[in-house]
Amino acid sequence: MCAQPLTDDKGRTVSYLRLSVTDRCNLRCLYCDRRMSTRLTHFDVLRYEEMLGLIGLAANLGIRKVRLTGGEPFARKDFMEFVERVRARFPRLSLRLTTNGTLLAPNAQRLADAGVDRVNISLDTLDPATFARITGQDLYAEVRRGIDACLNAGLRIKINAVALRGVNDRELPGFLDLARTLPVDVRFIEYMPMGGADWKPEQVWNAADILAEAKALTPLTLLPRDDADAGPAQMYAIEGGKGRFGLITPLSNHFCATCNRLRITSGGLLRTCLFNDRVYRLRPALRHPKLGLPFVERIVKLALRQKPIGAELLAARRAGQGVSATSMSAIGG
Ligand code: 5AD
Ligand code: SF4
Repeated sequence: MCAQPLTDDKGRTVSYLRLSVTDRCNLRCLYCDRRMSTRLTHFDVLRYEEMLGLIGLAANLGIRKVRLTGGEPFARKDFMEFVERVRARFPRLSLRLTTNGTLLAPNAQRLADAGVDRVNISLDTLDPATFARITGQDLYAEVRRGIDACLNAGLRIKINAVALRGVNDRELPGFLDLARTLPVDVRFIEYMPMGGADWKPEQVWNAADILAEAKALTPLTLLPRDDADAGPAQMYAIEGGKGRFGLITPLSNHFCATCNRLRITSGGLLRTCLFNDRVYRLRPALRHPKLGLPFVERIVKLALRQKPIGAELLAARRAGQGVSATSMSAIGG
């Protein structure tokens, strides 16, 4: 049942789906929507069965990689069982997760047993007090337990840190040391002006500065971009390191020309670009007794033809303004 790859009107092949399973989260990160104001009702959230249908549709359309995100995915009831169902039904998909790591430790072995390919853990600081300041919760130790549990279970993990001037910009030594001593990729992401958060230009710690500061601390060797697993990250080897260091640069060096992703929110909104609030409502068609998945497929194909170049939207926004009215917790990163 292998399908024609989905191609958009700019010749980009879409092969990667990010599916948010919930907009709820047990943290309140300062760069996310602290109020979590747009929380969906139970009825509005897609049932797991509906999500399985969408993943099946995506796989038929040539999607090869699915990332389950949130909010915090483990904040949704029975998420671990859902992962197992996805894995059992779609054994050939590359299956990944993005999590804040706080609820990971008890599930790590089961994720490994289920055959999850990668786990991305969002962790912006290695200091417990700063963690509490960023996330509003004193759960740093839980995340570290989650990281250890994943490594013990043999899972491949990445750590993503949002680069925040004045918050974690003194932590490069610690993060570099982590990537040197553990087999994990540590990646800093430029802080994007997304909705809900109180984004200010002076909080952006741009990738060029991060790189210069990191190179002053340790020799870094640029790795070729052909590593399919790197996604939009530019990766560097660390001398003597078990892991690697990387930068994700949505602001200073965008990767829209090769963007291969689609996003579906937990409420069934298809979003073709992080920086564009234009969404396509899949839920009504999905739940319609006569329309169902065949109609959803038509919407997806139409949407794809209109997938924009997000960087152009970013450049056009008014100074100091967010590029999207939607928070990352709703979109799923
Ligand atoms: N800019 C950059 N990264 C963000 N994330 C959430 N909000 C932002 C933002 N405004 C990150 C989270 C997580 C991923 C899903 O997105 O920390 O790593
Ligand atoms: Fe939760 Fe992620 Fe938002 Fe933090 S950024 S509050 S971990 S959804």
